[in-house]
Amino acid sequence: MSSIARTAATGGDLDPDFLAWSTSLPVDRRLLEVDCRGSVAHVRGLEAAGLLTADEAKILREALESLPGKVASGEVKLREDEEDVHMAVEAWLGTAVGEVSAKLHTGRSRNDQVATDLKLWCRDAVAKIEAGIDVVLERAKEWIERHGDVAMPSYTHRQVAIPVMGRVWMEGALSIGLRRDRALLGAVREELARSPLGAGAIGGTTLPIDTSVTAAALDFQAGPENPIDAVGERDHAITLLFVCTRIGMHVARFSTDVIELSSDALVKLGGAIAGGSSMMPHKRNPDLFELLRGQSALRRGELVALMGTFHGLGSGYHRDLQQDKEIVFRAVDGTLDVLRMMAIALAQFEPVEDACLAALAKGDAIATDLCEMLVAAGTPFRDAYGKVGALVVRQREAGKRLVDLTADDLVALGLGAGELAQLNLKESARRRAARFGL
Ligand code: ARG
Repeated sequence: MSSIARTAATGGDLDPDFLAWSTSLPVDRRLLEVDCRGSVAHVRGLEAAGLLTADEAKILREALESLPGKVASGEVKLREDEEDVHMAVEAWLGTAVGEVSAKLHTGRSRNDQVATDLKLWCRDAVAKIEAGIDVVLERAKEWIERHGDVAMPSYTHRQVAIPVMGRVWMEGALSIGLRRDRALLGAVREELARSPLGAGAIGGTTLPIDTSVTAAALDFQAGPENPIDAVGERDHAITLLFVCTRIGMHVARFSTDVIELSSDALVKLGGAIAGGSSMMPHKRNPDLFELLRGQSALRRGELVALMGTFHGLGSGYHRDLQQDKEIVFRAVDGTLDVLRMMAIALAQFEPVEDACLAALAKGDAIATDLCEMLVAAGTPFRDAYGKVGALVVRQREAGKRLVDLTADDLVALGLGAGELAQLNLKESARRRAARFGL
């Protein structure tokens, strides 16, 4: 019989081509470290239940603890002809420690084993994503220290709207969303609180294995609440991929802002992150930001693929679930890469203040301020709104903008000549930011 997970009842050897196609080993070998950690905890549970002697437990534990290092150094090569990493580890254990390895899988199934492995892997992933977000937030803070006082155009419908401070844009377009994403990872942690070990294949075990012992050994808060749920649910992975997707969306949104600002030369990209053209010698393209934006499409696809995997499945474990890992790994790897590139990018672009002020002037971004000056002087809002709108047209017909208004123009509008100082783009941005304590 080619595999330890087969008996006479299973019906002989697997077709080699089917085995080669169906094995999860190429993907789940990444679980080797958490798989061994999980097995060490299981050994502890077996020992506490009197199902292993202290000596047997020691032999198994030491072998399992040594395996990831041996595989990493090339000293051990896992068998390729196994169905998955769990079988490959058990097969290796047989060659390494002999007979006692036959006791490892007592009271356990690959169903609770793989569910545990994935939870351990996702827990590490959550910590890495949190750390990745923290670096980006730190770089964003440093960007604000350098450029937060620059008045930049804000846009509605991609038309110049109102002047905003650079710090308001950076926080609003990127940092706050990422902080919310980071907080949402707390929900993933909650869904990772229980260890599936002890759920067995679907209904637990008759053996007296205390699930709270194995759970504690792996830093879970408790064992399974229900064995059917424990082997079949991947809610934590779905929530994790949702957070990855939302991080991708926030990064993409910010990237589009930078791409559009750079297109108008309102921000300058560092050569270290810019792309060139193989034909046009003058180009400095926002490739990094376009790639970041493209990644968000992949995150959405991975989330849908993971949720789609559950479509039509009943409760408990089904082999369909095997494909969850490839999807989860891709989403987490992609997210960590995106956060790393975002951290690089934030040190590599700066706003061009003169160009921003020129865009604000050209776009008559001061119009709403002027309107509100009239309101403060007693004009009903709609009347002020109409007056300023007409003024915008008159100025433009004269080849001018609202910032070109003179003290006399203000007096003609019913304002004081001294109020001209308020028609200042940077001041406008600063006053508005102050309203939000920014
Ligand atoms: N390779 C499988 C997976 O990743 C492990 C669980 C197999 N369980 C089973 N009953 N065939 O999901």
